[in-house]
Amino acid sequence: MQTIGVIGAGQMGSGIAQVVAQHGMKVLLADVDLAVAEKARAGIEKQTGKLVAKGKMEASDAEALFGRIMPVAEYAPMAEAEFIIEAATEREEVKQKIFEQAGKVLASDAILASNTSSIPITRMGNHAPDPARFIGLHFFNPVPLMGLIEVISGLATSEETTRRTRAFGESLGKEVIEVEDEPGFVVNRILVPMLNEAVFVLGQGTASIADIDKGCRIGLNHPMGPLELADFVGLDTCLEIVKVLFHTTGDSKYRPAPLLVKYVEAGWLGRKTGRGFYDYSGEEPVPTR
Ligand code: CAA
Ligand code: NAD
Repeated sequence: MQTIGVIGAGQMGSGIAQVVAQHGMKVLLADVDLAVAEKARAGIEKQTGKLVAKGKMEASDAEALFGRIMPVAEYAPMAEAEFIIEAATEREEVKQKIFEQAGKVLASDAILASNTSSIPITRMGNHAPDPARFIGLHFFNPVPLMGLIEVISGLATSEETTRRTRAFGESLGKEVIEVEDEPGFVVNRILVPMLNEAVFVLGQGTASIADIDKGCRIGLNHPMGPLELADFVGLDTCLEIVKVLFHTTGDSKYRPAPLLVKYVEAGWLGRKTGRGFYDYSGEEPVPTR
């Protein structure tokens, strides 16, 4: 059985683990400690349990999927992995340390991939044991439902690594697009400035949270309004992406909306903390302004 390491068991790492296990592979799931990885595994069990209850998955398949996910306290077991996928917090210094630690156990023919939303792959490749086997593998949230993966090759990434990574993405049932290592890649370069702009619109008092979202949901036929989507992604992650766009291009059009900065400083990071532009403590999300 193919083994995949996943480091970072938040919303993306959990989703990646679920999809990889669903496709018959064994997943070694790590986070800052074992308890976080175990909690993520319990979340996946709950999620797949709902699918079983709806008749969308066989109970035996859900059990087998769950059985293929092993939380681990250290990276050593990942020596057997064909891919190690980093999906930790969107901070370059956090990721660098992970690449250095994971690099110590990475098999000589294995690939180290980052699910970063925006941080340059070429630059982060310097912290991998072999930049030729380092690549961006960008999933979309929620991973089990979203059909796209961006594969981002850095300057030093080998063609063989790109080919194997594309094949891996396709083996998960996803459509793959190959993207140059430019700030924000393709989708976030377009999406995140829109989310940031929505926060400027809110900060300038142009409309309420509910109306900004309603406007884009109905007027653009988007499944979620931009503030709802920013909460869903995580406001910390949105801010980090905007900062990367701003700092790597030097273009003022990417300056972070001051209100977005304030929300992150307040610790109001969106759904994952129970409060962002909406309050998630009740049955239905309630706009906070
Ligand atoms: N695994 C498998 N199936 C799941 C699941 C999971 N983890 N979670 C939900 N489902 C199933 C549900 O059981 C449900 O099935 P039924 O229709 O049979 O009931 C189905 O999927 C849809 O679930 P919901 O009713 O909760 O979903 P919805 O119709 O309200 O849609 C959504 C939810 C797909 C998230 C939709 O609102 C949407 O597309 N939003 C936009 C998402 C988006 O833009 N994502 C990209 C973010 S940007 C990014 O990811 C890049 C980055 O770097 C920041
Ligand atoms: P999250 O906040 O839900 O989870 C991040 C996880 O990383 C947490 O469980 C945290 O404990 C863990 N972590 C932090 N430091 C760590 C370390 N040193 N070692 C191991 N684990 C560590 O964030 P997320 O939304 O899952 O995002 C993870 C990555 O995926 C980020 O790079 C983000 O940009 C990217 N991404 C996010 C989305 C999204 O919509 N949220 C979409 C695509 C890509």
